[in-house]
Amino acid sequence: MKTIALGLTASLATLLAAAAPSKIAKPPQVTFSKDVAPILVKNCQGCHRPGETAPMSLLTYQEARPWAKAIREAVVLKRMPPWYADSHFGKFSNDRSLAQSEIDTLVAWADNGAVEGDPKLAPKPAQFVDGWNIGTPDLVLEMAKDYQVPAAGTIKYEYFTIPTQFTEDKWVKMAEVRPGNRALVHHVIAYVQEPKKPGETKKADREFLVGFAPGSVPEILGPGRAKLIKAGSEIVFQVHYTANGTAGVDRSKGRASASSRSRQATTSSSFPPERPITKWNRSSPYAATPR
Ligand code: HEC
Repeated sequence: MKTIALGLTASLATLLAAAAPSKIAKPPQVTFSKDVAPILVKNCQGCHRPGETAPMSLLTYQEARPWAKAIREAVVLKRMPPWYADSHFGKFSNDRSLAQSEIDTLVAWADNGAVEGDPKLAPKPAQFVDGWNIGTPDLVLEMAKDYQVPAAGTIKYEYFTIPTQFTEDKWVKMAEVRPGNRALVHHVIAYVQEPKKPGETKKADREFLVGFAPGSVPEILGPGRAKLIKAGSEIVFQVHYTANGTAGVDRSKGRASASSRSRQATTSSSFPPERPITKWNRSSPYAATPR
């Protein structure tokens, strides 16, 4: 008797085992916590969070869930993330376009009920600093007066020239520029404009110093690196305003840590820098700076 019972059990088990594989073979379910959140942190939350230019926040599952279908469409049509479409802004060496695998993940999530999954697996939403990032500066520059941003319409890039008042050449190790009004500023780029050399009629080309765009980071150069700003240079802010339905004002600011040649030469062995930067081959706040 015992033997027969055992045989029965065994065949039941075989049956169950035969039924199981189709379930196991299904691809693991795409969930917000495990699969989608990391993509949003890396590519979307710079803009999609409170106080930024994008219309809705995508920091949490609760915030993102109602947008699942819209997210699917926006990434499939490559409307989002928008950077690489903004040809005015020049080329990004690290533009934020999604990899095809990331697009596929977002699509699979939206198509399969946009489930949350285990919240414990979700990465923390991206952290952004609202204050200045580079500490006590030697130099603070700000637009001379407020710029009035209208409620509607397309606004051409505006340029604001701010004299550095440098009477001697300076080495800049860190620079940061921040919008006065984040809701209205799409990006700011601070350029260095060297003074005209004696006998020259045309000013030299402006050189990129530092930029701000949602999610961008300040310029902090590695050891032994610094950027020369010549005496008499001006800083030119290029500001791209975006009307958002409510008129407002902006006065963007920049700050930098700069050392004069003579002072640093006597106090620090790293100045003049071992690897001075005379030309910065970059034009965007997202591009990589050589370290
Ligand atoms: C540089 C800022 C920025 C980034 C980065 C960004 N968005 Fe947006 N997003 C916006 C702005 C601004 C709007 C509203 C205006 C518009 O539709 O262009 C918007 C609108 C949207 C909309 C509304 C519908 C639509 O297509 O216009 C969706 C959905 C969306 N974004 C999803 C995303 C996702 C997903 C990512 C990341 C993969 C992302 N966005 C990254 C700025 C951004």
